[in-house]
Amino acid sequence: MCGIVGFVGKSQAAPILLDGLSKLEYRGYDSAGIAVRDGDAEPVVVKAKGRLKILAEKTNDGAAVKGTCGIGHTRWATHGEPSENNAHPHCSDDMNVVGVHNGIIENYQELKDKLIRHGYTFYSQTDTEVAIKLIDYYYKKYQVGPIDAIAKTMVRVRGSYALAVMFKDYPGEIYAARKDSPMVIGVTGGETFMGSDVPAILKHTKDIYYIGNLEMARLRAGEVTFFNLDGDEVQKDITEIKWDADAAEKGGFEHFMIKEIHEQPKVVRDTINSVVKDVNGKPELDFSSVGLTDEDLAGFDNIIITACGSAYHVGVVAQYVIEDLTRVPVRVEVASEFRYRNPILPPNTLVVIISQSGETADSLAALREARNRGCKTLGIVNVVGSSIAREADYVFQTLAGPEIAVATTKAYSTQLIAAYSLAIALGKAKGVLSEEKITELLTEMQTLPDKISKLIEEKDRIQWFSSKFANAKDVFYIGRGIDYAICLEGSLKLKEVSYIHSEAYAAGELKHGTISLIEDGTLVVGVLTQSQLFEKTISNMVEVKSRGAYLCGITSYGNYSIEDTADFTVFIPKTDEHFATSLAVIPLQLIGYYISVSKGLDVDKPRNLAKSVTVE
Ligand code: G6P
Repeated sequence: MCGIVGFVGKSQAAPILLDGLSKLEYRGYDSAGIAVRDGDAEPVVVKAKGRLKILAEKTNDGAAVKGTCGIGHTRWATHGEPSENNAHPHCSDDMNVVGVHNGIIENYQELKDKLIRHGYTFYSQTDTEVAIKLIDYYYKKYQVGPIDAIAKTMVRVRGSYALAVMFKDYPGEIYAARKDSPMVIGVTGGETFMGSDVPAILKHTKDIYYIGNLEMARLRAGEVTFFNLDGDEVQKDITEIKWDADAAEKGGFEHFMIKEIHEQPKVVRDTINSVVKDVNGKPELDFSSVGLTDEDLAGFDNIIITACGSAYHVGVVAQYVIEDLTRVPVRVEVASEFRYRNPILPPNTLVVIISQSGETADSLAALREARNRGCKTLGIVNVVGSSIAREADYVFQTLAGPEIAVATTKAYSTQLIAAYSLAIALGKAKGVLSEEKITELLTEMQTLPDKISKLIEEKDRIQWFSSKFANAKDVFYIGRGIDYAICLEGSLKLKEVSYIHSEAYAAGELKHGTISLIEDGTLVVGVLTQSQLFEKTISNMVEVKSRGAYLCGITSYGNYSIEDTADFTVFIPKTDEHFATSLAVIPLQLIGYYISVSKGLDVDKPRNLAKSVTVE
């Protein structure tokens, strides 16, 4: 939520800042701005409402703003409408302090009132302006250096933030601070780079420092120093990022979303290979990278899964798969509810937090709540070094690589692999899955990447079909059991990128209300991958068809009479039914993508959404 960049070095800062922001635009894109300093001169601040390209045009791709030290921001509005005035950077009236911010200052009104009593005036509706002016206030009141002024502000402010600030008296320096919002720093070739996320600086360096919670950093050209809240220096280790810089580029595809859909066979394979090893020609599960032993796993009697958005949908799949394979009770809950519900956490409960970014505010809070209550936590996380990855007791690192499109595809697919692997590992540790069954499941799991590739080859047919529904008003997705969980994700994919209202319904619930919404030509997508439930769902599809629905069937059972019922069918390759989500979701992702394309929408950056939601 909001993206921050910073640079200090020998090169011109503005083009580097704009390039970094372009990699972070998925975090917010309603306005953007930069502040650049040329030597001792006051920073030049340029802001623009709308997409980053407007800021780029306004600054002639950065060439119009001179200086080798600067900060930048791309905004997802929380306090104050999207406008040039509310865009960051914000500054104190005498330009003593200029800064950018990601997150929410919860007590901003109280702080604003305090500052007004001390003679400050405000030009924007943002909480950021309050934070910047509070730093200025402490800096002047106590006559301290930047680190102490920021530390005093951090103690006074409630909420989450990542801040990057420049002080008039300290040319060639940028100060950073964070609490709960991410921030990474890289130093290379006498230059220093900062960003909210790795892709912003990946093309400059793969050696990354993470600023810890409630820590600060001082950036100079080719140098970074970290401080704790007491102002004492702290030492940091470098984390080497294995991601390829090209992975954060479109590489010839029209959009990141379709590129990332195509990457799924590879990233699913990589994720499988990280936990399934060949031992004497037989696949064996190896959870050593996760840190969970068989003994640890055998000790858990309950599992609670908590997450947001698509990661929550993975949790719904996991609930079906884990309970069916292991008979260990699983509860799945959206993190924003879990954290405030005073949940019952019986002894020996493993709390699993699923998150691509590892920074989602509600998921992180749920993790902390679980830890405070004495539960062990497992993070299924894509971003190395993210807050959830660092705070969880055990970490399953998904290997999706950088995901840029706001609508997740490849990260979701790798999270499914983590969920299946956890189910198998648990079944093995508990002794409820035989060795033969485990081998059979793992062998089948290894076939998923090729089957996903086959489904992606269907894309032309799916594009043809999807283009017919550009004007649809409502779309419904129906399925039972795991198929219902698949529908949740299919429906979300469609609505978030195409702005078409859609709903996922447990097929058996259709008659309890939803069916009244079916009109002539309404598209209903039936997902049928579970043999036991096939005929039941077909009956529900027939019910809507006889009320005028246009039917699309996603099914693995070609020998049933689906084609007599559905108007358009995508057959998915046969697999173990526990793994069907990995295949059935592919055509659903493609349907969402191609409907959005045929409507001419900005597929990668749908309106109002942000990829990384670091506010609650
Ligand atoms: C946002 C994204 C979703 C994502 C959700 C959770 O809403 O648009 O695609 O599923 O956040 O994000 P996380 O990083 O925790 O997986």
